[in-house]
Formats: sequence, C-alpha cells, structure tokens
Amino acid sequence: MIKQSLFAILAFLSTSMAAWAGDIPNGKDLFLANCAVCHGKDGAVSNYGRKLKPFPARNLRALVGLATRDELRRFIVYGVHDTAMTAKKYALDPLEIEAVIDYIKTFTYQPNLAAGKKRFEAVCSVCHGKDGRAQTGMGAKNLVYSSLNLREMVQTMRYGRSGTLMTSKRHQISNADIANIANYVYSLRYNADTAKGKRLYRKDCASCHATPSAIHLIGNAANRTTLADLDNRLLELRIRHGRHVNRAGRGIVNITPDDMQDIIAYMRSPLSRPMAANKPTGKHASEQVDLKRRAH
Ligand code: HEC
Ligand code: HEC
Ligand code: HEC
Repeated sequence: MIKQSLFAILAFLSTSMAAWAGDIPNGKDLFLANCAVCHGKDGAVSNYGRKLKPFPARNLRALVGLATRDELRRFIVYGVHDTAMTAKKYALDPLEIEAVIDYIKTFTYQPNLAAGKKRFEAVCSVCHGKDGRAQTGMGAKNLVYSSLNLREMVQTMRYGRSGTLMTSKRHQISNADIANIANYVYSLRYNADTAKGKRLYRKDCASCHATPSAIHLIGNAANRTTLADLDNRLLELRIRHGRHVNRAGRGIVNITPDDMQDIIAYMRSPLSRPMAANKPTGKHASEQVDLKRRAH
C-alpha cells in the first residue's frame, strides 16, 4: 500500500517536473524558427536580411552588451513600423520573448578598432574632429573628455540628441560600425593623471589656493554651488575665464587642455583634501563658513 502510493507520488513528481521543464521555452529554438531567416543563424544577418527594404535586418551580435534588455524587448514586442521587423507580440508570448532575449545575450562580438577609426573619420569627424576633440565649431562635444560609458555613447549614436546636430545614426551606419566606432572612440579617451595634476596644482594654483577646498566660487551661483556641482567643462570655464585670468595671471591661459584635465582630476580626488576636512560634509560646511566670512 505504502509502496504503491510512493510509486504514485514519484510518477506524479516526474511527470509534473518534465512538464515544468517543458514549460521553459528554448530561446535558441525560438530564435532559429522566428528570427534567423532575417537576422542569420548566428545573429549576424542572413543574405536575405541584408537585402530587405527599406532597411536591412540588423546585426544582433554586434548589439549585445551595448543595448539594454528593455531596448531589445521593445524592438521585439512592437517591431519597427514600416520595416520587415514586425511586432512579435502576436507570434511569441512574453516568456518566449524573454527566452529569445536570453539567447541573444549569449552572442559575442569582437570590435574592430581599425574599422572603427575609418568609419569615425568618414562619418563623425566633420563635427567631432579627426582626433575626437571637436574643435570644429559645430557645437559637437569633445569625445576625448566625455564621461559617457560605452553604452551611453552607443545610445547617443543610435538615437541622437533631439534639438542638436547630433542626429540618430541608426539608419546611416550598421550595428557593427556602431560597435567598432564606439570602442574606437572609447580608446581615444584621455586618462587623467592625478599625480601629474597634483604637481601642476602645486606649481600653478597652490600659491593662492593652498588646497581646492580653499577656492571660493564667485558670481551669482557662488552661494549655491560647490566645485563638486560643476562638471569638468564648467569648472575649466571658470578657471580659464577672463576675470580669473586677471586674478591668477596669464599663465592660466597656457595650461594645455590635457594638463587642465589632470589638475581637475587632482582637485576632485581625495588626495587634494586637507586631513581635517576629509569628510565631504565637513568640506562643504567649512566652505559655507568661509563664504559667510568673505561676505563681511
Ligand atoms: C522578416 C525579417 C525579420 C525577422 C523574421 C525578424 N526581424 Fe528583427 N529586424 C528586421 C529588420 C529589417 C530590422 C531593422 C529595422 C530598422 O531598420 O529599424 C530588425 C531589427 C531588429 C532589432 C533592432 C536592432 C537594432 O539594432 O536596432 C531587434 C532587437 C530585432 N530585430 C530582433 C528580432 C528578433 C528577436 C526576431 C525574432 C523573434 C526578429 N527580429 C525577427 C527584420 C526581421
Ligand atoms: C553634424 C554634426 C555631427 C556629426 C556628423 C556627429 N555628431 Fe556627435 N554630436 C554632435 C553635437 C552637436 C553633439 C552635442 C549634442 C548636445 O549638445 O548634447 C554631439 C554629441 C555626441 C556625443 C555625446 C558626447 C557627450 O559626452 O555627451 C557622442 C557620444 C557623439 N556625439 C558621437 C558621435 C559619433 C560616434 C558620430 C559618428 C557616428 C557623431 N557623433 C557624428 C554633432 C555631430
Ligand atoms: C595669483 C593667485 C591665483 C592663482 C595662481 C590661481 N588662482 Fe584661482 N582664484 C584666485 C582668486 C583671487 C579668485 C577669486 C575667489 C577668491 O578670492 O578665492 C580665484 C578663484 C578661482 C576659482 C573660482 C572661479 C569662479 O568663477 O567661481 C577657481 C575654480 C579657481 N580659482 C581655480 C584655480 C586653479 C585650478 C588654479 C591653478 C590652475 C588657480 N585658481 C590659480 C587667485 C588665483
């Protein structure tokens, strides 16, 4: 009797577990059945997908790691209007869509920096400059000093910045181009040298501001703003603006942009804090006291 019911329980468990395992959709099978005809078995676009009008299928392999899961889901669920990428919410249920995304996320891509450089010079340098430093007068940003991470840069390239000359490049360049360019641009990043910044600060600034915490911001924003509130570009503007040049001397003008990045990196690093004011709250509090004193 006991034996029989044990068997029954075991039989029940094994069938229900098999059913449960079968409930988890297989992302790879779903991808091969629903996507591979256009995106290719490996996600790098089929010959058929390459010829689609008005826009070809896109390389999903090159997109992995550069697009968020939400972004992928949005494309898959809703499709792209007026293209061969139709909404898949009618063909796949939500769990199946997540399984397809899980499978896409197993793809890998090795960016090609040389190809990225070539495409950057062809497509981006007109505004951003050949060296990425954007001295072109087009209002573009210096990409060498950008603080965006790889994904944020790709996001900017794919969707653009509304109201600026930085338009969406999604239909101008392929996903492989985007991945290659983004990685190339990232490789141009200036890595600020804090130790050098410390030496430069000692030489160029310390005679008047013993430490950065002793610097008083001036003008309308002074009572509400601290150095930490200013991004690097705004801080550099304040250091290089005419009135400060009058105070600090013309030497300020000759500090190279890279040296300025080093100085600013040092000013922001814990290295530059006086021992007693290591806590940020302490620093702000003492700044406020100093400002009040200055007002009198
Ligand atoms: C009939 C061809 C076709 C099929 C099938 C297809 N796609 Fe697409 N897919 C496209 C095209 C074409 C685009 C590009 C649309 C555009 O240019 O905006 C695209 C774009 C995408 C994008 C956006 C890529 C990017 O870089 O912006 C994703 C993600 C995507 N497809 C996933 C899938 C998945 C997952 C499936 C299967 C469930 C699938 N597609 C099935 C043709 C297809
Ligand atoms: C027609 C001019 C133009 C072209 C071409 C152009 N950009 Fe831009 N880009 C801009 C402008 C202008 C901005 C600043 C937008 C703003 O004010 O936010 C910008 C901003 C950016 C940013 C944001 C940087 C940051 O730190 O906020 C990135 C990244 C970028 N561009 C990358 C590229 C890449 C990569 C290409 C080539 C595929 C490219 N851009 C092509 C004009 C251009
Ligand atoms: C010869 C003296 C002198 C030197 C050298 C000097 N400064 Fe100043 N700086 C001043 C004076 C004076 C002010 C006005 C505020 C005050 O009284 O503290 C000022 C203000 C500033 C401000 C605030 C500007 C604003 O717009 O709010 C910053 C930031 C600053 N200095 C950074 C620096 C840095 C960084 C260096 C070195 C690269 C430097 N200063 C070198 C005298 C100097």
